[in-house]
Amino acid sequence: MGKSVLVIGSGGREHAIVKSFKKSNRVEKLYCAPGNAGIAADAECVPIKVDDVEALVNFAQRKGIDLTVVGPEASLAAGIVDAMYSAGLKVFGPTKNATRIESSKQFAKELMTKYGIPTATYKSFSDSAEAKEFVRNGKLPAVIKFDGLAAGKGVIIAETYDEAESALDDMLVNKKFGDGNVIIEEFLQGPEFSFMCFVSDDKVYPLELAQDHKRAFDGDKGPNTGGMGAYSPVPFISEETKTRALNEIMIPVAKAMTDENTPFTGVLYGGLILTQEGPKVIEFNARFGDPETEVVLPRLESDIFDFIEAVLEKKDFIPQWSEDAVLGIVLASIGYPDKYEKGAIIKGLEKLDEEVFHMGTLFSDGEFKVNGGRVLMVIARGEDIPEANLHAKEAVACIECPVLFHRSDIGHAITD
Ligand code: AMP
Ligand code: GLY
Repeated sequence: MGKSVLVIGSGGREHAIVKSFKKSNRVEKLYCAPGNAGIAADAECVPIKVDDVEALVNFAQRKGIDLTVVGPEASLAAGIVDAMYSAGLKVFGPTKNATRIESSKQFAKELMTKYGIPTATYKSFSDSAEAKEFVRNGKLPAVIKFDGLAAGKGVIIAETYDEAESALDDMLVNKKFGDGNVIIEEFLQGPEFSFMCFVSDDKVYPLELAQDHKRAFDGDKGPNTGGMGAYSPVPFISEETKTRALNEIMIPVAKAMTDENTPFTGVLYGGLILTQEGPKVIEFNARFGDPETEVVLPRLESDIFDFIEAVLEKKDFIPQWSEDAVLGIVLASIGYPDKYEKGAIIKGLEKLDEEVFHMGTLFSDGEFKVNGGRVLMVIARGEDIPEANLHAKEAVACIECPVLFHRSDIGHAITD
């Protein structure tokens, strides 16, 4: 019988997950909670918030959902997976406890130190005076991270001591992101890449690599964002490096989580950097990356339902991937990642084919409108990254909306 799937979330990542399930031969009915105006074309959207655990569990029970896939960290942190397990429902995501690999940088750092997993050296602070003194006695740039969920915006790479001090004041005195310590860590150098793996306890299934662009503006300038574009594959990371990252980082972390009685199920995302000494960890996430998912899942040729089912049953599964390169460009509201206006009309979407993911839109009075910081992600395929880049730029040019901006140099490490 055809399966029913519930995807939790409302962004571009969830739109990509939904589209991937839409291609599955096994899936008959797709729901997304709460979804967005674009997702509504591909799944039935249900107006339940991502952290309303009780309502989500009730919905899944009532509809007899065969598999729930969790997108955002807020839903994981609210304990959706624990609650689904208790209700006897099948869910792909980590428990609240295991989500700490993402939500607590200190937990992740301590785990890596204990199990010898390569990462930057670090120190944790709750007192701003002590943190400032530590920075003053150390080298620049200083890497300052808020220890909690900050939607990708809680990291400052300070080039000057003044900049470092004002970041520490923001986080520890003004509590810009709420209560939490800061971590100050060694600055690592090298190309970054995102390595997502499907994980079930100590069994690890690697996906294809991607690269994200976190800074707001061209030339990797401006503030850190949730991600302004991405591409997959990553040609400058060799198979040998990928294998090293799998064997020295991803598999040992999954094993460590099991050994620590916080076994991990779901997507383990390694934000990695290739240093002179080999791949090291910048951060872990406990979920699909955004915008990496939007360029990796379109390359998956195997049935995603079969794949996740095999993972949950710890069966061997070798996914098939398209040889195509996929590159995606995010269109964001001017002002993002700080303040921005909602409500502007977006025109030209009908000129694009399938491959546009809605990140923050709504549909009213017959028009798509801006409803978020990151608004759309347009992806395109090509034989290689430069070709995909050309096609993605042509697609972006179809979209008319005066309050949107985008980076024009996604993939610059390859196309320059
Ligand atoms: P995170 O949110 O921890 O992934 O950090 C955001 C971005 O800051 C990363 O993608 C890196 O570009 C940069 N970053 C974080 N930690 C370091 C580090 N230790 N050394 C160099 N760059 C870093
Ligand atoms: N692209 C980085 C993230 O998903 O956190």
